[in-house]
Amino acid sequence: MVTGAAGFIGNALARQLHEQGVDVVAIDDFSSGKNREVAPGVPVIECDARDRSALEEILPQSIDALVHCAAQSSGEVSFDDPWDDMTRHLHATMQLLEISVARKVQHFVYTSSMAAYGNPSRLPAQETDSLVPLSFYGAGKAGTENYVRIYCRGAMAYTILRPFSVYGPGQDLANLRQGMISIYLAQLLHTGRIVVKGSLDRFRDFVHIDDAVQAYLSVLKRKQCQGSTLNLCSGAPTSVREVLEALLTTADADWNAVEVIAGTPGDQFGMYGDNSALRELANWAPDWTVELGIGNMWEQATAATRGHGI
Ligand SMILES: NC(=O)c1ccc[n+]([C@@H]2O[C@H](COP(=O)([O-])OP(=O)(O)OC[C@H]3O[C@@H](n4cnc5c(N)ncnc54)[C@H](O)[C@@H]3O)[C@@H](O)[C@H]2O)c1
Repeated sequence: MVTGAAGFIGNALARQLHEQGVDVVAIDDFSSGKNREVAPGVPVIECDARDRSALEEILPQSIDALVHCAAQSSGEVSFDDPWDDMTRHLHATMQLLEISVARKVQHFVYTSSMAAYGNPSRLPAQETDSLVPLSFYGAGKAGTENYVRIYCRGAMAYTILRPFSVYGPGQDLANLRQGMISIYLAQLLHTGRIVVKGSLDRFRDFVHIDDAVQAYLSVLKRKQCQGSTLNLCSGAPTSVREVLEALLTTADADWNAVEVIAGTPGDQFGMYGDNSALRELANWAPDWTVELGIGNMWEQATAATRGHGI
């Protein structure tokens, strides 16, 4: 089962599982996700993960693994309605944990976030570092991680993944409040301009969606990952300036297209992670560089725009 399957990561993962012949049950409440199918004829079932009776009806009696991707997924948006954000993390995960234990699910994979760290005291961030989140979103991830660990103790195998900045084709280009690369790309594509909220010196650790999906697949396959909390990242920092340079070059635009304004609350300044645990336990390594990834994303986005006759 994959939750949040109408969204960016959940949909790509559910599709890949389906293509590999896995019987996938995909759910989403469509609060932000837009993908109605995993693949032609394989629907994403409408279900709010906070709704226990709806889950009871939809969940098959026998599930090997539950990958929980559903959440409110933006740090910035978490300040608009912290209550809603909190229930989408904690409440939804508790319902899924309880029902998973009752249905004897063998492996529960929780999607946390690098936002749980806040601004770490040293870089690259390691899984054992303390969590001092700066947004309600990050606080929701940090708190929920602990519920997963405590709830699963002696009851169910679990793995917690902490993705850093996942980007790539399939990201919602209409959402200008989540996903740095997708926001800049969408702005440039639709308006010819890029408004950057915060310093060009900020940096992130970008992971292409194909690499992220491969990480989930490896974690599902390899028992060694169970009981671990793992950074899902490239292991290298890329500055906002470098992202813009790659994007402007790809799009044949120049720096006149860029305007820098004040940052958003709860935004981390600089972040990258140590991925050695994931590399070792999941036998995983990223394939994509940011330059290639941005080129790939731009190609697909411009092709889709042409396809719609825009
Ligand atoms: N994209 C990233 O860079 C990134 C980085 C770190 C962590 N994450 C985490 O990975 C997960 C997936 O992220 P994404 O980028 O695909 O986000 P997304 O917003 O595209 O997908 C999240 C999906 O969850 C659904 N959802 C929200 N609340 C729900 C509920 N109560 N019941 C059922 N569905 C619900 C939304 O409709 C959406 O389709 C999220 O937990 C997010 O916090 C993402």
